[in-house]
Order: sequence, then C-alpha cells, then structure tokens
Amino acid sequence: LESIFTQHPEAEKPAPLRPRKGVIIGAGQVGLACAYSILIQDCFDELILQDINQDKVEGEVMDLIHGMPFITPTALKVGTVADVGQGADLVIITAGAAQKPGESRLNLVERNIAIFKSILSDVVKHCPNAILLIVSNPVDIMTYATLKITGFPSSRVIGSGTVLDTARFRYQLAQRMQVDPRSVHAYIIGEHGDSEVALWSTANVGGRKLIDHSWESLSTSEQDELASIFNQVKNAAYEIIQRKGYTAYAIGLVVTDIIKAIMRSQERILTVSSLVNGPYGIHDVCLGWPTVLNEKGILKTVNLKLSKAEEEQLCHSAQVLQQVFQQLNF
Ligand code: NAD
Ligand code: LAC
Repeated sequence: LESIFTQHPEAEKPAPLRPRKGVIIGAGQVGLACAYSILIQDCFDELILQDINQDKVEGEVMDLIHGMPFITPTALKVGTVADVGQGADLVIITAGAAQKPGESRLNLVERNIAIFKSILSDVVKHCPNAILLIVSNPVDIMTYATLKITGFPSSRVIGSGTVLDTARFRYQLAQRMQVDPRSVHAYIIGEHGDSEVALWSTANVGGRKLIDHSWESLSTSEQDELASIFNQVKNAAYEIIQRKGYTAYAIGLVVTDIIKAIMRSQERILTVSSLVNGPYGIHDVCLGWPTVLNEKGILKTVNLKLSKAEEEQLCHSAQVLQQVFQQLNF
C-alpha cells in the first residue's frame, strides 16, 4: 500500500509522547465491562487485558478491537504485566472468584487472596510505579492484602470501595425526590458490603439536608422509608446476582470514573477504599471514605463529622473487616 501516499520531503516525526498505559488483570464480566467503558471514554493510549484463560481474552480483544473505528482509538492488546504491560501507570485487578446467589462478598476472601498472591509478584517486579486499583471482592480486604503483599505506598493502593454503593444510594434518593442523581450529595462509607454505613446526617440536595435534625426526630414512617432506601442500596448486588448471576455495567462505569479522576488529576472526591489510620480511633484497615484523587493516587481524605450513630456503625464496619483479615493465614 506504499504507493497510495507521497511522503512530504520535509516531513518531521513528532517526538513520541509517553503513552498512558493501563492493564486490566481478569477479563471476566467485570474486567470486560471496565474495558468497554474505559475504551469509549478514552482513558489510556494503551490498554492491556490479562487473564489466565488465554483463548477467552484473545476473543474478547478481537471483538472489542472491531469497534475502534467508532471511538478515539486505544492500542488494545492481550498481554501481561510482565510483557506488553510493563511500566503501566495503572493496574486494575478484577481477577478472581465472584459471589454465587445468596453468597456474601466476605466468603470469597481465601480464594481471592490465593489468586492475588499469584498475580502480584509480577506487578511489583514489572510495574513498580503503578497505581493499583482493586475491584475483586471482598474489595476492602483485597485492598489491604495488596498493600501488605506489594509493600507499595498506601497512596498508590486503592480499592473501588463504596463508590458503587454511593452511586446506588444517590440513584435511589434521586428517584424518590425526582431530581438528577448528580444533584444528590450523599455518601456510603465503610465496608463495600453488609456492614456499610449511610451518612444520613450530611445527605443533602440543593443545599437542603434530607434530615433537618437527628434520625430520632423523624417519624416512624419517615425512618421506615429511609431505612428501606438504604436496604435497597445494601442489598442491590444480592438482588442483581439472584437474577442475572453477576453485576458488571455499573462497576465498569465506577472504575472508569476512578481512573479518569487519577489519570486526569481531577482531584475529585470519591469514596474509594484505602488505608485508614486515625479518625474515630480506626486504625490499620482499608475501607470506603471520601478521598481526593489525583495522578499520584491519593492526595487527601475528608475530615468527616459523623453523628454518634454513624460513628458506631463505622467502627463496627472497621471491626468486621479487621476480624476477617485476622482470621486469614497471612
Ligand atoms: P468472572 O468469573 O466473570 O471473572 C473473573 C476472571 O478472573 C475470569 O476471567 C478468570 O479467568 C480470571 N482469573 C482468575 N484467576 C486469574 C489469574 N490468576 N490471573 C488472571 N486472571 C484470572 O467474575 P466477575 O463477575 O468478573 O467478578 C470479578 C470480581 O469482581 C469478583 O471478585 C466480584 O465479586 C468482584 N466485583 C466487585 C465489585 C465492586 O464493587 N468492587 C463489583 C462487581 C464485582
Ligand atoms: C456489587 C459487587 C458484587 O455489585 O460487589 O456490589
């Protein structure tokens, strides 16, 4: 095809820019939903998909590549952190066992720790400066385990935390109030799981708090309504997994939002999971917390002012996570 073009005699080659490179380890339902969303939102120049199922990951990449003419192109490849993924800026880990209907996230812990141990030595060796974004469940424990296994600075080991739960919370509240979910300012923090905490005391829309005084000042029917909204948030994954076997699209968008906050240094506040040391007497545990992200990972966290009830629930959530970790053979 050389004859199609005439090279300009004085054409200059641009100086190569350092490509923004990401690796997704685990190309299952979640990894692929992340890949699709990352591609259409142009987060990286190079994206590598790594999976132990080589045929599957090759087929998935071939399928995705045929959509390139419709989007800003990304160099999408099958590979690993040890070959084409070397030196990645961001490594996203979605590999591992997923919940069966009715199963708790915490139940996956031993299987997924074993998988992480097998994956992370290559990540440390070949991507020593990467930010690690953990998605596999139980995500807070897996984030803490990743911190211990890799020895990376805690600013660079981030879990998807309660960003998805916060999105579900905002969606439910928005439906109830008939406003855009982006105009609802409300957070879920703590474990991404059964002990997560709704921050009702600061939840607001348009500058107006949802609860004027305290939870106790609400009528029983108001309390029941809010409790029902929170239960729908907390149990959303169980309901979806019961029906379709897994969750994927929303977490794919969540992961993309976290990646954009990092790669574009947006300094956005997202309830990612990371090492918490200090507030409310909580030490040495990873859990969801409003956190400012930039291109170096975690910049700072919000000094929350919790109600007494929220504080107790958060401390309980931290204890649940710590107990699970202590029972592991680490
Ligand atoms: P899945 O079974 O569809 O995919 C898992 C993939 O991991 C498979 O393709 C498998 O081959 C791969 N894998 C296993 N061991 C590997 C290894 N050593 N190296 C590379 N790849 C390996 O499961 P899924 O539905 O994609 O879920 C993945 C994880 O994400 C689960 O732990 C699930 O609970 C979790 N998840 C988390 C959130 C969140 O909000 N954090 C949301 C949804 C799912
Ligand atoms: C979720 C996963 C299963 O969708 O953690 O919440």
